[in-house]
Amino acid sequence: MAVAAERRWAIVVGIIIFVLVLMMIVTGIHWSAMPPSRVETIDPRTLHVSGEFVEANLGTTLTAEGKVVVRLVAQQYSFEPPCIVVPAGMPVTFRGTATDVVHGFVVGTTNANVMLIPGFVATFTTTFPKTGEHLMPCHEYCGTGHETMWGRVQVLPSEEFMAKAKRGERLNCVRR
Ligand code: CUA
Repeated sequence: MAVAAERRWAIVVGIIIFVLVLMMIVTGIHWSAMPPSRVETIDPRTLHVSGEFVEANLGTTLTAEGKVVVRLVAQQYSFEPPCIVVPAGMPVTFRGTATDVVHGFVVGTTNANVMLIPGFVATFTTTFPKTGEHLMPCHEYCGTGHETMWGRVQVLPSEEFMAKAKRGERLNCVRR
């Protein structure tokens, strides 16, 4: 009786292990057959000196085609810029990277959530439906100051945002 029960459980555990190993093999083959569509690399040692992520280029910009692009850099233990302005109801493209270790951020309770890895540019596009202010904490443990690493995102009505952008005002909300 006990032997039969033992055997039944051995079979169940065997099946579970088999299924898990099968999942690893299938996903491994899937990912090697279909690598991620885009991987963008950047040299973290020179990104502050030249190129897209120099300080003057960080923050929110309205491109000539009318797209809203936010560029930001994460480092121990802050985001640059620490306060970001975006319009409500318009697609916003984030482009971010890290200079030292792996960081990440999430914007309030929205679906904006990304990892920032030194050497890589992370990009995603999202739309903030409502105006208001969100906290933007770093959500990857990055060292002893991790829990003090926060930014803010201010979502403005799109008319107000566009008016600011057209006047050529700096699109950020950093208190000075
Ligand atoms: Cu940066 Cu945690």
